Amino acid sequence: MTLASASSSAFSTASSSASASRAASVPITLTQCAKTFRGSRVLEPVDLRIEAGETLVLLGPSGCGKTTTLRMIAGLETPDAGGRIAFGDDDVTALPIEKRQVGMVFQSYALFPNLTVRGNIGYGLKIRRMPADTARQRVDELLAMMRLTAHADKPIDQLSGGQRQRVALARALAVQPRVLLLDEPLTALDARLRDALRSEMNALLRELGITTIYVTHDQAEAMELGDRIVVMSAGRIEQIGSPRDIYYRPANRAVAQFVGTINRVAGERRGSMLTTTGGAVPLPAAQANALAERDAKHEIFFRPEDAFLADPAHAQLRGCIESSAFLGERTRLTISGAAPDALLIDVAGRVELARGTPVGISIGQDALIALS
Ligand SMILES: Nc1ncnc2c1ncn2[C@@H]1O[C@H](COP(=O)(O)OP(=O)(O)OP(=O)(O)O)[C@@H](O)[C@H]1O
Ligand SMILES: [Mg+2]
Repeated sequence: MTLASASSSAFSTASSSASASRAASVPITLTQCAKTFRGSRVLEPVDLRIEAGETLVLLGPSGCGKTTTLRMIAGLETPDAGGRIAFGDDDVTALPIEKRQVGMVFQSYALFPNLTVRGNIGYGLKIRRMPADTARQRVDELLAMMRLTAHADKPIDQLSGGQRQRVALARALAVQPRVLLLDEPLTALDARLRDALRSEMNALLRELGITTIYVTHDQAEAMELGDRIVVMSAGRIEQIGSPRDIYYRPANRAVAQFVGTINRVAGERRGSMLTTTGGAVPLPAAQANALAERDAKHEIFFRPEDAFLADPAHAQLRGCIESSAFLGERTRLTISGAAPDALLIDVAGRVELARGTPVGISIGQDALIALS
């Protein structure tokens, strides 16, 4: 059995148990939400709408303001004067976290070490003075949903990382939140468990249908989980779009370089061709037409998996293998001489090419990316 199939039972997403944790989902609107800490602006004014039931991912490098944005939505930080946050028609800007009906999972999980699994999941219900038998029933449903029933009475420190992560999620869902806020909930797990739980998380979020904001700096997580992705850098939104938009139609270089790997071919434009060190690449008609005659210097971009090796006699570009990295399912070649910068090209894992081997490269015409 593979790890993925072994863990496909990590969460039970049967509608009966998921519906127990479902509240009416609401859209979230941020209007001109900026944040300044001790005189320094860490978040420029943000306007953002998250649709009811949507999973929106905030993606970006460390320190770009993801957690700050999430904490403002949670009610743990207040936006600078003039900023407004609404859940549906409710203006929640001045409401504290306990009145916002949000479920939150922190990067560290922040579980109570002195409480059992059951005690952690039921904590919010106790605070809200829910009658004991109703609370017990809700906790039982969540234990079943997260496949934690057998661990219900264990203290937290006897659980694995993946189990703790499920307790944190169950605790967030127990209070039937209107909004689910997840701050890098899988980061503390090892790579294999993280990959397996990512698919489970995806199924769970679809099943719950709660408006969710998911913070990560992991591109694969963002791609799999996000209905839309917000790419942030240095306190600003660089782009908002579907995972495919972000990957294939990046708004600028910062996005293209942060999300995946991108190759640059710089050269001179001759008619509808871009000539460069190792040959010439036909420019897409739209790009060629958009260029004025005097724009002789030009550059195009493409992803490593969007080019292929071809017979050097007929290929668009010619170069030499500089190095080759075997990554299991694929091999990543570094090729020099084809363009001013070395190019990274992904080929099947079984391809073995020695350093110095001459190769030809062609790029799919619709794979060329124009960047400002
Ligand atoms: N309470 C605070 N006081 C002062 N500065 C803060 C505070 N909280 C965050 N910052 C600063 O705001 C900026 C954004 O921080 P934030 O935690 O939102 O980043 P992040 O995108 O979540 O990063 P990471 O991926 O590392 O978690 C950082 O420069 C950080 O140092
Ligand atoms: Mg953070």
